[in-house]
Amino acid sequence: MSDNASLSPTPSTRTLIAPSILAADFSCLAQEISKVENADWLHIDVMDGHFVPNLSFGLPVAKSLLPHTDKHLDVHLMIEDPARWAPDYAEDFDSVTFHLEAVDGMDEAITLAGELRERGTMAGISIKPNTSVEPLLDYLAHFDIILVMSVEPGFGGQKFMPEVLDKVRALRARIDADNLDTLVEIDGGIGIESTGPSAAAGVDVYVAGSSVFGHASPSSQVDALREAAHAGMRADAQSDQRS
Ligand code: DX5
Ligand code: ZN
Repeated sequence: MSDNASLSPTPSTRTLIAPSILAADFSCLAQEISKVENADWLHIDVMDGHFVPNLSFGLPVAKSLLPHTDKHLDVHLMIEDPARWAPDYAEDFDSVTFHLEAVDGMDEAITLAGELRERGTMAGISIKPNTSVEPLLDYLAHFDIILVMSVEPGFGGQKFMPEVLDKVRALRARIDADNLDTLVEIDGGIGIESTGPSAAAGVDVYVAGSSVFGHASPSSQVDALREAAHAGMRADAQSDQRS
């Protein structure tokens, strides 16, 4: 576990870059994650072939990373029946996010998040691009992370959907108004171009798979994403001053 959050120019947001190992070479994961020592978090996508039409890996492979890093390990469960599996991940990982669409309503989501927190992990909830953020807004204090999907979950390398930034803005406004610590995370199609607008909308955590591990220098891409986020926030602050 680590606490290497880099402070950003906007006090209400942080800038945490989270490379997704889904885009890494699975035959040598330890070597791959050593290429992104300058990242803040590592993002771990678990897919079950049911909730999403793709299968990635499960707990044993995720746990195989533990001896190789002391970074914050951020698990994203794209699985059915998360109440059955998520608590096992809470034992070893720093944050565990499940999907709102995979549980039976907000009551079950809040109960599961509470169980995850009791086990000492940060509790996250994720919404797909077509899921409204409205039902979550009155319950943000029950979650440490809200993960806004900016592609349909299941595959890396898809195109960023800018329309989801309306949901990020709604989350940012409510989190700041209620003075909460809940982090806003964005996942899917994050590269240099999508990071600036995401930062201006109020994102804290940037998941990036193919743009990092598909780059000739993954670590320089991590730095470039962080710089693009800071630039996006500065531009947003300047436009606020002008308006
Ligand atoms: C997609 C996963 C993402 C994926 C992102 O369902 O949740 O974390 O790794 O990959 P890119 O950054 O390539 O869109
Ligand atoms: Zn993910």
